[in-house]
Amino acid sequence: MAGSKPRRFRIVLGVTGSIACYKAVDLARYFIKRGANVRVVMTESATRFVSPLTFQSLTHNPVAQSFWTEGDSGSIGHIELADWAEAFVIAPATADSIAKLAMGSAESSLLATALATKAPIIIAPAMNSNMLSHPQTQENLTTLQGRGYEVVEPDSGLLACGWTGSGRLASNREIYVKTMRALGPADLLGKRVVISAGPTREMIDPVRYISNRSSGKMGLALANEAYRRGAVVTLIHGPMAGVASLSKDVTTVSVTSAAEMGEAIKTHAAGAQGAPRADVTIMAAAVADYRPVAERPQKIKKASFTPTIDLIENEDILKSLGMEHARRDGALLVGFAVETGTVEELLSEARSKLARKGADMIIANRAEDAFDKTTNQVWIVSGDTPPLHIETTSKKSIATAILDQVVARLRKRSGVELAH
Ligand code: CTP
Repeated sequence: MAGSKPRRFRIVLGVTGSIACYKAVDLARYFIKRGANVRVVMTESATRFVSPLTFQSLTHNPVAQSFWTEGDSGSIGHIELADWAEAFVIAPATADSIAKLAMGSAESSLLATALATKAPIIIAPAMNSNMLSHPQTQENLTTLQGRGYEVVEPDSGLLACGWTGSGRLASNREIYVKTMRALGPADLLGKRVVISAGPTREMIDPVRYISNRSSGKMGLALANEAYRRGAVVTLIHGPMAGVASLSKDVTTVSVTSAAEMGEAIKTHAAGAQGAPRADVTIMAAAVADYRPVAERPQKIKKASFTPTIDLIENEDILKSLGMEHARRDGALLVGFAVETGTVEELLSEARSKLARKGADMIIANRAEDAFDKTTNQVWIVSGDTPPLHIETTSKKSIATAILDQVVARLRKRSGVELAH
């Protein structure tokens, strides 16, 4: 609803004693900026690195440190905190705290909160690379993963101890997206979702190409949302910005031309070369319909240029998938249609593309609403129901609406009753 505020999700941030504690300050801000209500619990050693007052001032909430601090209205502090949490994020998590978590220690308020909470627990280790690769630490992490903890893999680089290797606290973005996934509906859990995004480029000569106006933002939003809902996501993208904002768990394949995109889609979506087939394929890419007959090996000089370029039609990737798709069980194929006419013309074109290309769903939108914008309005067109209009909203919300429809269709196909 326009103007309404999204619900503030409740994050408990557990901070243990590592030099990376200072990064936890920024992480708390990162969560707050994205709508979280954050409460912090610190170990005694963490308070040596960063003052609890820093977290208190940023979160506007008291910081839990000791068992001997009373909880709200006389309740037991760590139990109240454990019950309050929708997600418990431990960042940075030291080797010592990981070991204690693995053995179920309740020696500190932070550890007791971890034992008592029913919320998902996300841990982001940060330590020296040798401590991280030590078999005991690795065994502890495996134990925690086996208990359902989400471990955010540390980054590699120069460490505070002077070593270079794995052990740097993961980025705020990575910790955030993993937390949102842990809080997500898991209605695409384990489903293989392949999404294409962005434009393709068809080279004329080494410095010039034919392309189209596509930022790739819609495909990126779909990849983020599919990941949040638990899917195993592959994004096949043309030249575009923003791919680095995706979780590291999302497989990304960078291509340039329509032919390269076609190859990559066949491998990742259609199960070529023994690869697993996708459960859902979404063609959000603006694939160039034509390419020059041949790319010139040298830059074309103005003096020698005859102002015509001979073009040849590219393969229609969606259509090829659609033909093959007819023989597959249960998999879903979604295409896009972008047009410049009236809504009636758009819907009629979308229906025709649905039939012509063998897709299950076409997301119809208008160039004027979509290009160079972070918002869009779309009509979701499928064979068996009237078009569903999603009014102008963020591309993130459009992605949610599209994947709601995808989930509903997958459920229908597998015969499961719709929850709502
Ligand atoms: N598409 C594709 N391969 C192409 C061209 C388009 O897979 N060579 C896909 C797009 O990713 C999109 C859908 O087809 O999902 C519709 O693309 P669009 O350009 O709107 O349709 P066209 O078939 O090219 O028809 P027209 O240009 O005549 O509208």
